[in-house]
Amino acid sequence: MRKVAVCITGASGVIYGVSLVKALSELSYRVDLVISGNARVVLKEEHGKTFEDYLSGLKNVFLHDEKDFTSPLASGSVLVKYEGVYIAPCSTSTLACIANGINKNLIHRIGEVALKERVPLVLLVREAPYSKIHLENMLKITEAGGIIVPASPAFYHKPKNLEDMINFVVGKLLDVLRIEHNLYKRWKG
Ligand SMILES: Cc1cc2nc3c(=O)[nH]c(=O)nc-3n(C[C@H](O)[C@H](O)[C@H](O)COP(=O)(O)O)c2cc1C
Repeated sequence: MRKVAVCITGASGVIYGVSLVKALSELSYRVDLVISGNARVVLKEEHGKTFEDYLSGLKNVFLHDEKDFTSPLASGSVLVKYEGVYIAPCSTSTLACIANGINKNLIHRIGEVALKERVPLVLLVREAPYSKIHLENMLKITEAGGIIVPASPAFYHKPKNLEDMINFVVGKLLDVLRIEHNLYKRWKG
């Protein structure tokens, strides 16, 4: 079974992470999921719901505790078997930790391991505006082989509602790992 890891942190747009997990589960991926405590706070604030409200019942989704450094995902020998790691959305705090090699939780460790093992690492960074520190950290991640995707929906596919806008961004996340999907209509010229 094809496998990816998804980490969700406490930036605005936690719903992107939720939708990504749903899409991957529906595409028959095994999803190993880590949710930061701050992501739970932001989801409650933005949608008045819990992750369990959205994700219970999804197939092949396995939750790991953000404090559990003994998780198999913390090991390179396990992570190399994964097609990629998403951190979506990625807070500037988590971005800073990974860019500077600091491991305060399992998400930071997974980011570090993905970079050292050359497992594709995709960060959906959400903040506005960006400071020089944010930009430097994104450059560090890029130079280390990671991929920065902005949490920026487009309008050329003529979104009709919020779901269309979320699906565009989730589709872009899938595109960078070359995962086939029909979440948004591609530009035909
Ligand atoms: C409602 C809400 C929205 C937030 N939005 C953002 C955001 O868009 N980007 C960001 O970097 N941090 C945002 N934060 C702050 C982060 O949650 C905070 O920096 C936290 O330490 C991130 O921790 P984590 O990366 O471990 O989840 C937000 C916090 C709250 C309560």
